[in-house]
Amino acid sequence: MQPKHFISLLDLSSKELHSIINRAIDLKNNRDPNFQPLKGQVLAMIFEKSSTRTRISFETGMTHFGGSALFLSSRDTQLGRGEPLEDSARVISSMVDCIMLRTFSHETVTTFAKYSSVPIINGLTDLLHPCQLLADMQTYFEHKGDIAGKTVTWVGDGNNMCHSYINAAHLLDFTLNIACPEGYKPIQDIVDAAGDRINIFHSLNQASENSDLIVTDVWASMGQEEEQKKREIAFKSFQVSSSTMNIANKGALFMHCLPAHRGEEVTAEVIDGSQSVVFDAAENRLHAQKALLEFLLCK
Ligand code: CP
Ligand code: NVA
Repeated sequence: MQPKHFISLLDLSSKELHSIINRAIDLKNNRDPNFQPLKGQVLAMIFEKSSTRTRISFETGMTHFGGSALFLSSRDTQLGRGEPLEDSARVISSMVDCIMLRTFSHETVTTFAKYSSVPIINGLTDLLHPCQLLADMQTYFEHKGDIAGKTVTWVGDGNNMCHSYINAAHLLDFTLNIACPEGYKPIQDIVDAAGDRINIFHSLNQASENSDLIVTDVWASMGQEEEQKKREIAFKSFQVSSSTMNIANKGALFMHCLPAHRGEEVTAEVIDGSQSVVFDAAENRLHAQKALLEFLLCK
């Protein structure tokens, strides 16, 4: 039987996503050190890109659950020397219980999934970042309740985070306004799959009206460092500031997956201000990852 994978939020039904979010809230509020459902199990974590939150949340989550995690930099394994993905997936999955990958190409993760005998988790690719959405949505539910029927505004690049927000809008039934410069829109097929919930704007102010949650991300993602200067020019009218938060609904939340650049995509006043829940969302990576691991490995 094919293992259950988590490569995109769309690998989950709406009901499964709700249950992972609720379970993450429960695991956070009722931590039981004796609950060790993954005793003796091993998670391999393959990183082509840097990480703080993803690595720590998965590693700590496995430890809390009685298992362990292996940090594998692609540079230090044979993957970095060109061993075929197909062979690597077969070999690694024959020794561990789950594999999490953070890669440049999305296809690396889908190829691994095809040849792996154990669940594969997408820890971020150039296309998607579904794990962050579990934590962001948990955070919204904790602060404000159900997100169905609400309006979320994505500000900036139509990148991996934006694509996963589009998928979340579909599964959790919220409206997503995307404020991005011309030339930095999300992939149209991903937008189309979410039906009529997605609105694209080229004005930050218009996109922020009636919004319950303002979200942004870096202007240049990992792997785009050489485009930084060009992007600073393209995105300069897409900085989230107090005036953005004032246009949004009263009590709107602010999120950013982190790491953030204060003074670029967001002002320090907003990210360090009272509407910001960025550090709650960062902590929730741990609880959400535990709920995900339990969903994939225990059911
Ligand atoms: N938000 C996020 O994925 O953080 P890391 O890059 O630190 O894992
Ligand atoms: N869009 C960012 C997210 C980092 C967590 C990147 O891919 O670098």
